[in-house]
Amino acid sequence: MSMDKIVALCKRRGFLFPSSEIYGGLNGFWDYGPLGVELKRNVKEAWWKDMVSGHDELTQIEGTPASFQMVGLDCSIIMHPQVWKCSGHYDLFHDYMVDCKESKKRYRHDQLRGRWLKAKEQSVFISSQTGGEEGLEETQTRALKFLGMRNKQVGDLEWESGMVSLLTVKDFSVVLAPDATQLGTLTEPREFNLMFKTFVGALAGEEGAAFLRPETAQGIFVNFKNVVDSTRVKTPFGIAQIGKSFRNEITPRNFTFRSREFEQMEIEFFCHPNQSQAWYKWWRDRRYQWYTNLGLSPERLILREHEPSELSHYSCGTADIEYAFPFLPQGEFGELEGIAHRADFDLRSHQEGKLVKDGETLIVENGADGKPRHKGSGKDLQYFDDRVRERYWPHVIEPSAGADRGTLAFLCEAYAEEPVEGGEVRTVMRFHPRIAPVKAAIFPLVNREGMPEKAKELYRSLKGDFGVQYDDGGAIGRRYRRQDEAGTPVCITIDGQTMTDNTVTWRDRDSLQQIRVPFGEIETRLRSLLKP
Ligand code: GLY
Repeated sequence: MSMDKIVALCKRRGFLFPSSEIYGGLNGFWDYGPLGVELKRNVKEAWWKDMVSGHDELTQIEGTPASFQMVGLDCSIIMHPQVWKCSGHYDLFHDYMVDCKESKKRYRHDQLRGRWLKAKEQSVFISSQTGGEEGLEETQTRALKFLGMRNKQVGDLEWESGMVSLLTVKDFSVVLAPDATQLGTLTEPREFNLMFKTFVGALAGEEGAAFLRPETAQGIFVNFKNVVDSTRVKTPFGIAQIGKSFRNEITPRNFTFRSREFEQMEIEFFCHPNQSQAWYKWWRDRRYQWYTNLGLSPERLILREHEPSELSHYSCGTADIEYAFPFLPQGEFGELEGIAHRADFDLRSHQEGKLVKDGETLIVENGADGKPRHKGSGKDLQYFDDRVRERYWPHVIEPSAGADRGTLAFLCEAYAEEPVEGGEVRTVMRFHPRIAPVKAAIFPLVNREGMPEKAKELYRSLKGDFGVQYDDGGAIGRRYRRQDEAGTPVCITIDGQTMTDNTVTWRDRDSLQQIRVPFGEIETRLRSLLKP
């Protein structure tokens, strides 16, 4: 499915707009339109209900070591700067960037790829920002241009390698940057911290400097003790939070996939160290299943364990849930969610000071004077289990999902075009009813004979409980098509027969089947569609 068509539908039907569009937009920022906001809210609400508010804490779920509790938090976006020093983000949360001196563009070092070409008696690296077939074509076109050759001479190009990462290239003097015409215009890679900096109050200097949170997780860790002391939670238990996070990405791209302001749905799950591996595996599988339950196809969704070299500074094991987004080359997947085993890294860091890995063990990082380089809070953040009188650092399993990425995956998965009667093609968004922006549309077949009054009566009776829409504009076929594009699972039409036997036409979005349903059954049927 072409990404361009999905992006066009999102704009045309009001799912997503570029932020500040009338001023030309702002790269890496997006606004959700009237349909998009409902879709994203439904994704977040399904997550909250399935993970937190609807969780049964009394029953042990099969495959888990114990029953468990789930509670929520909503923390501030700007936190004490020390939080980011002890979490490691201040020192370690960076990407490497390279600048092009010719085009003045900036790229992420690890995102550029390219092919080695024999040209002008030497090997040159023709780079590209894309992989797969598209990347091969792009490098081919650029190689021809660079050598002043014509398209029909493509067979004369002497390629020395397939696509490889720029990370494998040591000598940048032979690199043709993605938007350059000459060799050797890229600077050496430099660190770029991804946190947005701001200033709190009237203090302009470093004294007032603070950061927009790059993850919601730290709000949970620094409130760990507050939650334990103010509730009756006992390990194992999880604390969940949904909220905005900010990362100053070097190259935001692929629609909302990599944006600079985004929303996370995170759980920090605290358990005894002896049980942490079992919980890690269980959460990994449970979260994969959540996406397939809501309609993502297992053919396009994978669970991938990280290689040790890929692990974040805090993690001793991570699995990603990844989706085959249409903007990626064939066979490539993009991250929707990471499930990380964070062990006791965060709670210990916030108590003792910033931790670093010394071989396999964690130690507090000390400065030249022997004192912790970034001091912790000094507060006792260990957990005391009064049932067995044991004090320990709980281990943490973190399922961390991107609400915008999930929403984008559901949008991509839902998009379909299919031939219908009369040689036409209908565009239909096949959302799972739980996340569909509109649950049902209500139409009077014609605007007379009491049908609008009856349709409005139905609309009013459902509106308080369901996201329903009333539409009496245009031919019935056009009204159906409009709802197909919005992904509305059911259209309910009040017609001539309704006025005689009190039944309605119930039209299913996917099968296109139309059946007669008694007025009194409508609400129950809608409710059963929306059951988890
Ligand atoms: N808390 C994990 C992440 O933001 O990636």
